[in-house]
Amino acid sequence: MQKCKIGIIGFGTVGKGIYRILNSQSSIHPILKEIEIVGIAVKNINKKRDIELENNLLTNNPFKLIDDPNIDVIVEVMGGIDIAKDIILKSLKAGKSVVTANKAVIARFGTEIYTTATKYGVYVLTEAAVCGGIPIIEPLKRSLRSNQINKMVGIINGTTNFILTKMTKEKADYKETLKLAQKLGFAEFDPTADVEGHDAADKISILTELAFGGKINRDSISTEGINQINIKDIEYANKLGFEIKLLAFSERSDINSNDSLSLNIWVGPSLIPKSHPLAAVEGVNNAILIEANPLGEIMLYGPGAGSGPTASSVVSDILNLHASLLKNSSSIDPLLSFNFWKDCHVIDFNQISKKNYLRIICLDTPGVIGKIGDLFGNNDVSIESIVQLDASENKAEIVVITHEVTNGKFEKSKKEISVLSEVELIASQLSCI
Ligand code: HSE
Repeated sequence: MQKCKIGIIGFGTVGKGIYRILNSQSSIHPILKEIEIVGIAVKNINKKRDIELENNLLTNNPFKLIDDPNIDVIVEVMGGIDIAKDIILKSLKAGKSVVTANKAVIARFGTEIYTTATKYGVYVLTEAAVCGGIPIIEPLKRSLRSNQINKMVGIINGTTNFILTKMTKEKADYKETLKLAQKLGFAEFDPTADVEGHDAADKISILTELAFGGKINRDSISTEGINQINIKDIEYANKLGFEIKLLAFSERSDINSNDSLSLNIWVGPSLIPKSHPLAAVEGVNNAILIEANPLGEIMLYGPGAGSGPTASSVVSDILNLHASLLKNSSSIDPLLSFNFWKDCHVIDFNQISKKNYLRIICLDTPGVIGKIGDLFGNNDVSIESIVQLDASENKAEIVVITHEVTNGKFEKSKKEISVLSEVELIASQLSCI
């Protein structure tokens, strides 16, 4: 049987996971034995590694692998943006298909990358870029193609879910838990991308493009992370019957805009009712709910980060490529490749519609709840619940949960509430589903 020869660029957490799967002696499918690692490009050849590699496998020049006529597929798992983008594009132009786990590059330069792949008659596969080990890209490209996708909502960053779960269950310290997530290989090299929500925004951008078929302006996604989360909000949310999770949300909006499809997309820490299936997703696990027509609702769930799960997705992409190369066909498989077919745009921040949670610190005086309620009412914001949760030394903490409302109306009410003489501080604001 013809072998599939690969060059791996980067040998960190994911690279090692790929090596382990491909060298596993267990009885995984025999096709795995047809994948041969021809070279691995690393920054420092002499670095001490916990996996012993034959020296002739290593190079510090990734372009040597791209230029090697023996190599069919380049696996980019080095991370970063500019050099990784260059490597992906050069590989495609050299006629090699690419497997990448790099969501930051795909979310920003997807158009150029997908177009280049098509132009050169090769593929770029990205299963490992979103939700670690959960198959989500392949289902969106193939198994769900007979559907119209209406909405996707999910927990798509493992690091932040790991941190929030530990803060909720064990009252763990935020910084210590982030360090642990880094040690376990969940967090990005620069974990700011995880905790500030940018990693989740990259991922929902990629999923949205695949699901709805149009190019998304990545920078227009309203993004908040978990770095401002206060343990008090977790406690209050729990008391009121919610969990707090970092959610990524993408939905067709009914705002009419000629032929361009309007999309309501955001990423932010959110209250989820404890009875909701996403509330039970704990630790490094991810889950994504997809609402589609005629299918209905499905949820994909599993480990969202880490060496083994992410490598599992990379290797499944390599196997898909190998299977397509074996066909020896000169035509591109339209469901394995990807190209935009629709015009889409992200709706403006003020038009985004959602439920909100607001924690207000104010004077514990008669009529204050009434005044807050009136200001919301005057701005056409309907309140689902308003409670005073803590009162001491003449101060009160008031928590408001609104019904679904546009950001424009909510932000206007918030501004007016913040200048009430009784209000000391708007302590926090979160989304709700
Ligand atoms: N840092 C990412 C996460 C890795 O925590 O989800 C997987 O993409």
